[in-house]
Amino acid sequence: MPISFRSLTYIYDEGMPYAHTALKDIDLDIREGVITAVIGETGSGKSTLVEHLNALLLPSRGSLEILDHTIVAKEKNKNLKALRREVGLVFQFSEYQLFEETILKDVAFGPKNFGVEEKEAEKKAAEALKMVGIDESLFANSPLDLSGGQKRRVAIAGILAIDPKIIVLDEPTAGLDPSGADEMTALFVSMNRKMGKTIIIVSHDNEMVYSYADDTVVVKKGEIAYHGPTVDLFSDRQKMEELDILEPQIVTFRNLLLENGFSIKPEDRTLEEIIARAAKEIRR
Ligand SMILES: Nc1ncnc2c1ncn2[C@@H]1O[C@H](COP(=O)(O)OP(=O)(O)OP(=O)(O)O)[C@@H](O)[C@H]1O
Ligand SMILES: [Mg+2]
Repeated sequence: MPISFRSLTYIYDEGMPYAHTALKDIDLDIREGVITAVIGETGSGKSTLVEHLNALLLPSRGSLEILDHTIVAKEKNKNLKALRREVGLVFQFSEYQLFEETILKDVAFGPKNFGVEEKEAEKKAAEALKMVGIDESLFANSPLDLSGGQKRRVAIAGILAIDPKIIVLDEPTAGLDPSGADEMTALFVSMNRKMGKTIIIVSHDNEMVYSYADDTVVVKKGEIAYHGPTVDLFSDRQKMEELDILEPQIVTFRNLLLENGFSIKPEDRTLEEIIARAAKEIRR
C-alpha cells in the first residue's frame, strides 16, 4: 500500500495576517519498500511535506494515508503514538534535539517511550549507536559535548533504536564530512536493501540521489513538480532545465562514456560501478 497524500494543503499560521501556504493541494503516492528522494529549492516545502509523515504536522485540508493510519485535517487523530512507532522522522538539524544526560540514555529514550523496559532499551540503543559509528567509549558522555556530525549520528541512532518500518530523514548528511556522508548513505541503503525499510530522504545532494534513490519527488513552490523513477528524471535534460535541476556530474560522466561507445548498464548508478564497468571495457 502506498503512502498517499490526498489533496493535502498545509498553511502555517492559518487565520493570521502572515499565514503562509506551504503545500498546495498535494496528491502523491510514495511507494513502500523503496528509497524515495525529496528534492527542490530551499523553501519549496520539502520539510513541511515530510513532517506530515509522522503527524508532526497535521494537514490544514485533505488527508494522508500511511500504513493503516489516516491523518485528517482538523480532527482529533487517534493512535498517533502507534504511528510514530512505525514512522521514524529524523528532523533537519536534529542535532539540536538531543537532551538526555548521556548519549546512551538519549538514544534509549525512544524505545523506552514506546514501552520497552530500560535494560532492553539500552541494548537497542547500543546497537543503534554502533550502526551509526559512535564508539562505545562515548556512550556515557553528554551528547552536548559531541561535534555537530557526531550529534547528527546520535540523533539518527535515536530513530533506528525504535526500529520503525518507515524511516524519514530530512537532510541527514548535510554538514557531515564526505566520508561521514558516504557512511550514512551506505547505512540507509542497507536498511532498505537488507532490512526492507521504506526510506524517504530529503536531500540537496543530487549525486547521492541519482546513485541510490529509486524514485524522486521534486517539490516546487509547495507543489509536486515531478514524481517518478529517478533515472527518468535525470535522463531528461529538458525536464531538468524546466525544474532548475543541475545534472549530477555522475550523469554527465556516464553519458560521456555512453556517447563514446562504452556499454554502461542501466544498473550502473554509482561512480564505483560506472568506473568498474568502463575499466572492464577498456581491458577488453
Ligand atoms: N514554522 C514556520 N512558520 C511559518 N512559515 C514556515 C515555517 N516553517 C517553514 N515555513 C515556510 O514554509 C515554506 C516551506 O518551508 P520548508 O521548511 O518546508 O522548506 P524546505 O524545502 O524544507 O527548505 P530547506 O531546503 O531550506 O530546508 C517556506 O516558505 C518557509 O518560509
Ligand atoms: Mg527543509
